[in-house]
Amino acid sequence: MAAGKGTRMKSSRPKVLHRLAGRALVSHVVDTVSRLEVRGIVLVTGHGADQVEAHLGPRTAANQALAYARQEPQLGTGHAVQQAQPLLADDGITLVLNGDVPLISEATLSNLLSECGGTRLALLTVDMPDPTGYGRIVREGDAVQAIVEHKDANDAQRAIREIYTGVMAAPTRLLKGWLARLDNRNAQGEYYLTDVVKLARADGQSVVALKTADRLEVEGVNSPVQLAALERALQWRQAEALMDQGVRLADPARLDVRGSLDCGADVEIDVGCVFEGHVSLGEGVRVGAHCVIANARIESGAVIHPFTHIDGEKAGATVGAGALVGPFARLRPGAQLGAEVHIGNFVEVKNSTLAAGAKANHLAYLGDATVGERVNYGAGSITANYDGANKHRTVIEADVHVGSNCVLVAPVTLGAGGTVGGGSTITKSTPPGALSVARGKQVSIANWQRPQKQKKG
Ligand code: UD1
Ligand code: MG
Repeated sequence: MAAGKGTRMKSSRPKVLHRLAGRALVSHVVDTVSRLEVRGIVLVTGHGADQVEAHLGPRTAANQALAYARQEPQLGTGHAVQQAQPLLADDGITLVLNGDVPLISEATLSNLLSECGGTRLALLTVDMPDPTGYGRIVREGDAVQAIVEHKDANDAQRAIREIYTGVMAAPTRLLKGWLARLDNRNAQGEYYLTDVVKLARADGQSVVALKTADRLEVEGVNSPVQLAALERALQWRQAEALMDQGVRLADPARLDVRGSLDCGADVEIDVGCVFEGHVSLGEGVRVGAHCVIANARIESGAVIHPFTHIDGEKAGATVGAGALVGPFARLRPGAQLGAEVHIGNFVEVKNSTLAAGAKANHLAYLGDATVGERVNYGAGSITANYDGANKHRTVIEADVHVGSNCVLVAPVTLGAGGTVGGGSTITKSTPPGALSVARGKQVSIANWQRPQKQKKG
C-alpha cells in the first residue's frame, strides 16, 4: 500500500519516495518482497501515483514484474486492498505490507507466510512501549479476536501494548470474502483493513499473531524526524555488521552506507565517510576522513586520503592495489587506476586508464586518456579531450614525463619514454624518447629598464 498522502512529511514528494539509506522507502519494501519469489507484486498507488509509478517502473531490481492498482480517492487501508483484489489469484496467499515501513525483513515475512500456510489469517504484531496511534491486538486467552484502531479503542484496549504492524498474510479466497463485507462505520469513517480480523472470527476462522522482537523492522515513517531516526538506526546496524566482520570504524555513528559495502580483512575507515551504490574495499584498504565513494572497487592496500570524491556511476571506477589517492582527489566514471598509481590533490580523472606506477600528483585533469606504466604527469597539466562537439583520446605511453602546465590537445599520442617540456601545448603526436617543447622561446633582454612614472609639468 503506497497511496497515502504522508501529510506530516510536509513535502511535495509522495512519502514513500523519501529516501532511507539512499533508496526510496517503498523500494526497500518492494526489493525485500521480490526476494521472497512471490507470484506477483501489486502496488496500490494514489497520492502522487504518477511519480511513484515512474520511480519504480514496470520491474523490480530483481526483474520481477510490478503491477499497479490506483486508489482514488483514498478511503482507508481496506479500500486500498479492495483496489488490488482483481489482480490477486484466488488460490494464493496475499501478503499485505505498508509502503512506509521499509525495514521489514525477508525472514519475518517468510515466517508469517508459514504461519498463514494458505489456511488462516496471520498478523504480524509487536509490543510497543508507547502504542499510541496503533491498532491494538485484542485477544481472548491466546486467540486473537480483533484489531481495534486507537481512535476506536476504549481505555482497557488502549492499555494493550501489542499492536498490529500493518503486515498480514491471508488466504486470498477468504480475504476477498472479508473485503466485500467491510464498512466504514468507525471513528475515522474509513474502510479499515484491520476489520478483516472480526470478520474472520465471525466466520469461525482462526487468526494467528506472529510477534516480532525487532521493533526496527516494523517502524513506520511519518515525519522527517522519524525518517532521520530510522536512518541513524539503520546506519548503526550496518556499522555494527561491518565491525563484526573486523572492519575498523573510527566512529560507527559517523558512517553512511547507502547501498552495499563489501570489505576485505583489515579495512579502516575514518569518520564522516559516505558509501553509495556498490563499493568494495579490498584487504587492508584505508579510507581517510570525509570521503564520498560510490560505485567503485578499491583494491587491496590502497589508501584513499581525506576529502576524496570517487563516483564511478554506471561505468564504475577502480583503484588498483597499493594506489594512493587524494587528499582532495576526484575520480569519475571510467577511472581505472592500476597498482601503485598515485593521484594527488585537486586531480580529476575521468574515463581514463592509468597503468601501474603512473603518477599525477597535483592540480591536473586526465579525461579520455590511456596512460602507460610509470608515467609522471606534471602539476597543472590537462588533456583537452573535448573539441566542442566530440571527445578524443590522449595516449601517453610508458615512462613519459609530462612537465607542468601542459595542454595535450586530443587526439594525440606521446611516444614511450618521451618528455614534454613544461608549459607546452601539444597538438601533434610526439616520437618515443624525444624531448618535445611547444611554447614561445625564452628571450632575455639585457639591462632592461622598466618604464618610469612621468613627472607632471
Ligand atoms: C494502520 C493500521 C493500524 C496499524 C498501523 C501500523 C488500519 C486501519 N490500521 O494504521 O492497525 O497499527 O497501520 O502502522 O489499517 N494507505 C493507502 N490507502 C489508504 C490509506 C492508507 O494506500 O486509503 C496506505 C498508506 O500509504 C500506508 C498504509 O496504507 O502505506 C498505512 O496507512 P496509514 O494511514 O499509515 O494507517 P494507520 O492509520 O497508521
Ligand atoms: Mg501509519
